[in-house]
Amino acid sequence: MTLNLHFGSLAFTTYGSPENPSITFIHGFPFNRSMWDEQCELLSKDHFVIAYDVRGHGESSVGSGQYLIEMFVDDLLSLLDHLNVRKTTVCGLSMGGYIAQRAVDRAPDRFSGLILCDTKSAADTNAAKLNRANQIKMILEGSKAKFVDDMVHVLFAPVSFEKNKNGVEKIKKIMSSTDERALIGTLIALAARMDMTDSLSNIKMPTLILVGDQDKLTTVADARLMQSRISGSEVRIIRESGHVSNIENSAEFNNAILEFLEKNRL
Ligand code: MLT
Repeated sequence: MTLNLHFGSLAFTTYGSPENPSITFIHGFPFNRSMWDEQCELLSKDHFVIAYDVRGHGESSVGSGQYLIEMFVDDLLSLLDHLNVRKTTVCGLSMGGYIAQRAVDRAPDRFSGLILCDTKSAADTNAAKLNRANQIKMILEGSKAKFVDDMVHVLFAPVSFEKNKNGVEKIKKIMSSTDERALIGTLIALAARMDMTDSLSNIKMPTLILVGDQDKLTTVADARLMQSRISGSEVRIIRESGHVSNIENSAEFNNAILEFLEKNRL
């Protein structure tokens, strides 16, 4: 399904009955909503599940190719309005977690629970900004395939290349299909994002933080920092996982989410 917005259309899928409690999934960069296929199927029995493609990604329009996290939050809130969802639990991985943190800060009354996966609250360091500049240069010079290849090796835990070849291939294929203008525009948006660390203490909803034990991009220390600022939040470390823990160890990841939703009646 699609929602028409001023920049073009936002692609989304819903699963389950709208009468059930809702959960909304936001993918990482530069993936799309299909990264959540397994979780969407799993939760569809007891939840109204929403998964959508962030502007520029998947089947959503690229638009101008100029983005800010703030615009991605606008799109999320428009989608919730469109679906008549007053409140939802939001689950975001990495960039999805940046969007989720800003969304709960901006519109806390629209969210009943928060699941932050393989993400952080801090803004980019200077080194991270320079890395993004190099990635943009690489794409502009026609080496998108190298950008994807390099990133895949940082994303996954070494064991995933042996034990989860399908998961690695799936993510690689998604990344390769992402539009170059959207890649560049999103890299700039990520470099320009706000530091959310000081806002975390305002979060009053049940919060679960998940992180792969081998995540090199958003580390266990990043997860623990967020946990220390969000009162009542818990961290679950997903074993044998890098930055894409919902795919690298979906069994542990899914259990953690199911337990959290059940415990908090979300
Ligand atoms: C992601 O997976 O969304 C990205 O790694 C986020 C980032 O580059 O900061």
